[in-house]
Amino acid sequence: MDIEKMISEMTLEEKASLLSGADFWHTKAVERLGIPAVMVSDGPHGLRKQDEAADHLGVNESIKAVCFPAASATAASFDRDITGKIGESLGDACQHEGVSVVLGPAVNIKRSPLCGRNFEYFSEDPFLAGELAAALIKGVQSREVGTSIKHFAGNSQEHRRMSSDSVIDERTLREIYLPAFEKAVKVAKPWTVMCSYNRLNGEYASENRRLLTDILRDEWGFDGFVMSDWGAVSDRVKGVAAGMDLEMPGSDGSNDRRVVEAVRRGDLKEEDVDTCVRRILKIVDRWISNRKPDTAWDLEAQHALAAEMAADCMVLLKNEDDVLPLSKEEKVAVIGLFAEKPRYQGGGSSHINSCKVESLVDALKEYPCVTYARGYGVDSEEIDEELMKEAVLAASKADKAVIVGGLPDSFESEGYDRTHMRMPLCQNKLIDEVSRVNPNTVVVLYNGSPVEMPWIGSVKGVIEAYLGGQAVGAATRDILYGLVSPSGRLPETFPRKLEDNPSFLSYGGEGNTAVYTEGIFVGYRYYGRKKMDVLFPFGYGLSYTDFSYGNLVLSKKSIIDSEELTVSVDVTNRGNCAGKEVVQLYVGAPAGDVFRPVRELKGFEKIFLEPGETKTVSITLDKRAFAYWNVKIHDWFVASGDYSIEIGRNSRDIALCSTVSVTGSVEEPLDPVTPDTIYLDLQKNKKAMQVFAPMLDGIAEAFGGGQDEEQGEAASEAISSDMLEAMQRYMPLRGIASFSGAMSYDELVEVSKRINEEV
Ligand code: BGC
Repeated sequence: MDIEKMISEMTLEEKASLLSGADFWHTKAVERLGIPAVMVSDGPHGLRKQDEAADHLGVNESIKAVCFPAASATAASFDRDITGKIGESLGDACQHEGVSVVLGPAVNIKRSPLCGRNFEYFSEDPFLAGELAAALIKGVQSREVGTSIKHFAGNSQEHRRMSSDSVIDERTLREIYLPAFEKAVKVAKPWTVMCSYNRLNGEYASENRRLLTDILRDEWGFDGFVMSDWGAVSDRVKGVAAGMDLEMPGSDGSNDRRVVEAVRRGDLKEEDVDTCVRRILKIVDRWISNRKPDTAWDLEAQHALAAEMAADCMVLLKNEDDVLPLSKEEKVAVIGLFAEKPRYQGGGSSHINSCKVESLVDALKEYPCVTYARGYGVDSEEIDEELMKEAVLAASKADKAVIVGGLPDSFESEGYDRTHMRMPLCQNKLIDEVSRVNPNTVVVLYNGSPVEMPWIGSVKGVIEAYLGGQAVGAATRDILYGLVSPSGRLPETFPRKLEDNPSFLSYGGEGNTAVYTEGIFVGYRYYGRKKMDVLFPFGYGLSYTDFSYGNLVLSKKSIIDSEELTVSVDVTNRGNCAGKEVVQLYVGAPAGDVFRPVRELKGFEKIFLEPGETKTVSITLDKRAFAYWNVKIHDWFVASGDYSIEIGRNSRDIALCSTVSVTGSVEEPLDPVTPDTIYLDLQKNKKAMQVFAPMLDGIAEAFGGGQDEEQGEAASEAISSDMLEAMQRYMPLRGIASFSGAMSYDELVEVSKRINEEV
């Protein structure tokens, strides 16, 4: 396609028309110039291609496809490879079906367990979310199919989702809510980005130039096009100037007309319209030039892959007395409707029309010692006495009871947030009753977000399976019976109760304003700083085998922040079965002027080890592993000092630790000196210290340091030396004028000004 020629031959109306969708899932064509319409479709844990009636809420059917584990589950795999494989499978499906861009991955941060869409999001941790998003994008795009990383940005609630204003301070935005996008954009180069519904600091994401142009393009180098979330456009003209290229699904031509009129009036530059057209056509061209319609889409093979992946995502949370794995000879009572009709994906736009669903009951057909009882009804909290009785009876006759529960669809969905973290009453009661008659009770959870577990002390085993996709039954069987050793790790903290969550007091916001009051202290960054007891920490997960760590080696003892540091560690499988371990590398910053979390995840690797096998894992850290966002310089900044390098089994259990001394290569700019500058802050400024320190010291002496013995004693009765020191530390320069007379206020202003000019 000769894009420049096409643009030069297009009328303004034709150009404006290209800036919105033709219908729910297609861009517009300009037949006269041979510009085709291309299709986009939802995902991203499967393909949701709607052939007929279209909607963005998962109401109408889409074509049959394979439903892979949802992002909440894939995040628990901590595995870039399997996430990448989902991407490749999805890419194949898109080539086969003629879909140019799959709408995902969704990388919004899990600020609260209440967000209705948490099941679609990866993590409370931006590093993990960014790494996995990049892997998924690379996988899809390796098939020459585009992705649309979403929802950009600050979209961590569903409440008032189309109008809410996420008020997020600069540092928090840079350290928590943007890095997953940043990593994916820089490393995996998604073809498109989808802007979110919400406002960010007062401005809709769809018209936010700072976000869509200054940060996304100018800083991160994004070279694709931005599309709106479905119906996220308010002021289209402002959006075009801001860098929001494609409005989806469109506005029946009215916004196209507004764009034309704005250009004619001189309120919008035609070159801004051209820029949007150019970006869209570049992607259209990329798609049509790389079409592979003959790509095979093998649903059976993908189903098998989905089963393998789901098993890798499951997190073993509790395994008292090695109640798991089960053996085929044991009598096992499988209980719970989800064992027969699993909840394996979430509701809304990501809903896949699965080509088949394999439940745990299906997967256990050949297992002779297994019975099944339903235990509870769907979508209702109500206790069904008959079902309960039947389940308790079955459990009492079995060696072990496995209850499959979790959250029904109505408890978590796109479009609204949860109001509590509880499981349905009937399930909690069932677990209580069953565990009373069977001491070997195991709970398997199918849910997209953390739940409270009031029964945790009365069951021996818990598996968090998240929403494992259509092959979840086979995967659950493989974990329960030890065909696969569990290797998932929690990508989020499970607090003991909702009130413990750092966003509890402000989540959802007041009216349309949602202030992210907890700042950077999201998830484990908060619980860790508070030393708060949690149900299960970020990164937590057990295995059927044992791993030991040793030989932590840092490539250097000290570095300048522009240098890389390689950290290596040996991991040995000391148990009797093969298994995978997630090596987690955390970095802890030295104490300093700014608040920092105790530790932050800065690297991870998942490895497979046979019994007795040892592997060395190496992880390379760069400047970002040590940096925080400095609001004075509006950039990443490394404070010089000793950083701890920690290898953790999870965020609260550090196996090995070492230290590296890091020297920051950028100096923080000095604050200007004024009469209000206090002694403590003055110490960063050599010049100012030379001039003012003697005068300030003089004040301290006058207050108690320098008197004769008798006076000194009298003073020390009234003022402790700590207080004197504090008084000196916090004394502003204007104290010189007030207490010593060594300089007048005007002289202080004058001298400060001179010092500032010299610096
Ligand atoms: C969702 C997006 C989705 C789009 C198209 C919106 O409501 O927020 O994630 O891709 O609909 O279905």
